[in-house]
Amino acid sequence: MSTASASAHPNIAFIKYWGNRDHELRLPANGSISMNLAGLETRTTVRFDGALAADALVLNGAPAAAAQVARVSGILDLVRGMAGITEFAEVTSSNNFPSGSGIASSSSAFAALALAASAAAGLQLDEAALSRLARRGSGSASRSVPAGFVEWRAADTDEESYAVSVAGEAHWDLVDTIAIISEEHKAVGSTAGHPLADSSPLQAARLAGAEQRLAQARTAILQRDLAALAAVMELDNHLMHAVMMTSQPALLYWQPPSLAVMHAVPAWRAEGLLAGYTLDAGPNVHVLSAAADAAEVAVRLGKLPGVLRVMQASAGGAATLA
Ligand code: PMV
Repeated sequence: MSTASASAHPNIAFIKYWGNRDHELRLPANGSISMNLAGLETRTTVRFDGALAADALVLNGAPAAAAQVARVSGILDLVRGMAGITEFAEVTSSNNFPSGSGIASSSSAFAALALAASAAAGLQLDEAALSRLARRGSGSASRSVPAGFVEWRAADTDEESYAVSVAGEAHWDLVDTIAIISEEHKAVGSTAGHPLADSSPLQAARLAGAEQRLAQARTAILQRDLAALAAVMELDNHLMHAVMMTSQPALLYWQPPSLAVMHAVPAWRAEGLLAGYTLDAGPNVHVLSAAADAAEVAVRLGKLPGVLRVMQASAGGAATLA
């Protein structure tokens, strides 16, 4: 019997992952870049125990649904295979942020699971191996393993597709102010959404420019150039949502208040308040600004119609054993 605990932050992508070249291995159609979100975290404990008859999962204090247990067992199976063990495991996981907040909890969840499960099985995986393992549970989880500002490489093999830190969390005092617009569970989650990307006639065009946008975002991060980051982040965001809206069936994640934020942020920029926005597979809007402007951004977002509340996070560190 052996136990380990780990914690990881969720992340917000500046250059988005949407669509896979291999669904089974979760090899992404394109590379992506994100920032870990400090203060928000998933904490997970894994205990392998020969007396268990099956894997068990307790999520935020309640037994998880069968589909969630199966997804976790998929990662545990990979770990058991690597470690040469057969014991089932009890997994206990909780988020310190509301699960209905539209924050991508699968990114922090599978990063924490990869680290806790591998450690509990007696494996000492390096960062690349942990990132690859987390990727198998949720693509974006590969990016929650390294620290700070992180790039996940697209590749044709399992071995080559993992995430690396572009810059640590102390590199840039960027703040993500999240406008919470809906706390409802999204109708089509990203695991079901990725296979639809290729049904959009726009996906090929999105992919054709992805390398260039990745390079622009990487340079903007290294130079702490928020104007450049905002420009490429918003373009990339519009391209992903254009693909979503034109896939079959169509995925339309924006709600009227999302659009209100998308109109407001460029207007603020024109007035001299530098910020940029991006949305994941849901209606909530992430607004990135310098830390010095974050309080003003929060006040302004809070006044927009339909914004229920705001949450804020600066750049967070790597997944850690806890
Ligand atoms: O990791 P997944 O399968 O939940 O996909 C994440 C997809 C987006 O959040 C929309 C974009 C991204 O790169 O995080």
